Amino acid sequence: MALWSGRFEKDMEQIVKQYNASIGFDQRLYNYDINGSIAHVTMLASQNIITESERDTIIGGLEKIRAGIANGGIKFTFEDEDIHMAIESRLIAEVGDVGKKVHTGRARNDQSAVDVKQFLCYELKEIVKALADMENIILKKAEQYKNHITVGFTHIQHAQPITLGFVFMAYFQMFKRDIQRLADAYERINLCPLGTCALAGTTIPLDRHMTSDLLGFAGPTENAMDTVSDRDYILEFLSAASISMMHLSRWAEEFTWWNSTEFSYIAIDDSFCTGSSMMPQKKNPDIAELLRGRCGRVYGDLMGMLTVMKGTPLSYNKDFQEDKEYLFDAVDTWKTSVTIFAKMLEKTEFRMDKIAPQLEKGFLNATDVAENLVMAGIPFREAHHITGRLVKICETKGCGLENLEDEDIQSVDKRITKAALGDITIEGCVNNRKTFGGTAPNEVERQIANGKNWLDEIEKDWR
Ligand code: ARG
Repeated sequence: MALWSGRFEKDMEQIVKQYNASIGFDQRLYNYDINGSIAHVTMLASQNIITESERDTIIGGLEKIRAGIANGGIKFTFEDEDIHMAIESRLIAEVGDVGKKVHTGRARNDQSAVDVKQFLCYELKEIVKALADMENIILKKAEQYKNHITVGFTHIQHAQPITLGFVFMAYFQMFKRDIQRLADAYERINLCPLGTCALAGTTIPLDRHMTSDLLGFAGPTENAMDTVSDRDYILEFLSAASISMMHLSRWAEEFTWWNSTEFSYIAIDDSFCTGSSMMPQKKNPDIAELLRGRCGRVYGDLMGMLTVMKGTPLSYNKDFQEDKEYLFDAVDTWKTSVTIFAKMLEKTEFRMDKIAPQLEKGFLNATDVAENLVMAGIPFREAHHITGRLVKICETKGCGLENLEDEDIQSVDKRITKAALGDITIEGCVNNRKTFGGTAPNEVERQIANGKNWLDEIEKDWR
């Protein structure tokens, strides 16, 4: 019979016990559960609620159990129900009646929350570090490719020339915001639920500030009822995870395109590709595709958890036990996805020989013509129209804007000559986009320098 079975006449059927149990997945929290119990009894002793020798006996028993779980000596079954019951019942078996004092002034409702929050604080930092590692690789690549020109697209149509360094720095910004979202969420996660008990606090004179300090939280949570019944900190984490996975998925999508025979901008390293069981020639970008696919899992975790929370009355409900599998899945998927993407990125070289011929297609310098005409005194709307006519002529003649002769140009507008079109070499187009945030190499250098400074601060705060 369970530790809570006093008022019960009947045991649960096996299938019901299994349905009710969370031990299958929450055993992952055992270290945090034991840390929470040690902090709790340390505080109970300092408040003279238990003696120092009782505290020491309990802590000794808990450490034995920790070692037993770690070395595989302790095995769980669904009879254990959850990690809290599993440890408490083993503690009582280990140290006898004094173990029955560990749950003084505590409920599983605050215990479950304090376990998850310790887990989340730890894993959140691990993910910040993984993202920061990736940002370092991105900065190196941006530096390496700051002068290498590629095609910039809108609507998957050739738009304007840009540098690869600029593309890298675009993704740098996305992952920077992903880190900032985590740092922001951390402030709200890092508050200690222990001692809020079932829903309303307790008559036993706990010192919640002490347990919070012992566990390394910034302070105790403010309202017990809110503490045991909200999971918005998990939802914030899951939405940060979803957004970041979306960023990874977009880049993974670009990798599959860039790696295609049609693009051939990159050749993804063999160590991130697989072959086909049937077609001997194939080298498929499976890891990039899986990164894209795993995004769906994390969105699912977020949608699942949002739906669990919807319509749950205050305060604790067993529905909340569902929080763990969504959270664990998102943590594991996000962390490995970032780590693997970063490795793939590091090994990817761009094939400038394949990119160069593409720069001649699609009138990448058309906007430059229009803007140069503007600087020569022609109103933008007219300059836009004139350039459109020039593109039309180029299409008929099968040439680029830079190849037009004065007579072609004057057939469109008498006011202008070839000289008025300005520097429309592909390098000129890139170098002239000097506005703050633009693609000019000097500007990308500024973005890289700024990125480095920001990342240094992150490394200081989070390593
Ligand atoms: N395993 C439960 C959970 O994860 C622990 C809390 C159960 N509390 C209760 N009163 N049934 O949420």
